[in-house]
Amino acid sequence: MLENLDHVGIATGDLDGAVEHYRRAFGIEPTHRETIEDQGVEEVLFQVGTSFIQLLRALGPDTPVGRFLARRGGGVHHVGYRVDDVAATLARFEAMGIPMVDRSPRRGSRGTTVAFVHPKGFGGVLVELVEEPAP
Ligand code: CO
Repeated sequence: MLENLDHVGIATGDLDGAVEHYRRAFGIEPTHRETIEDQGVEEVLFQVGTSFIQLLRALGPDTPVGRFLARRGGGVHHVGYRVDDVAATLARFEAMGIPMVDRSPRRGSRGTTVAFVHPKGFGGVLVELVEEPAP
């Protein structure tokens, strides 16, 4: 079940510069910073209400975000939807024939469980399913 908009993932070639821009423009402070090696990114999260703005930098050119930046420059990279059960949502999408990037859930930042859905499944938007860690 879809519970909330979890985050908007924004790719940038200058993470510290982008963090500073969001801080100053919106008067908000970053709440989390983490490197996710297997996604090839370093991210900074700003919590806004119950959702996040997620600024992403590529760990190298040969990563999904690195290739995105080379092809398109900085901008919106993906949208994270918070669901109560990523595995069940994956199974539902596969049954519906929605193409997946991830065949099984994996670890995201903040201890979340995540899975990416192919942009072809949602009108050109890369979708990330996000399940909060158990309390
Ligand atoms: Co994300």
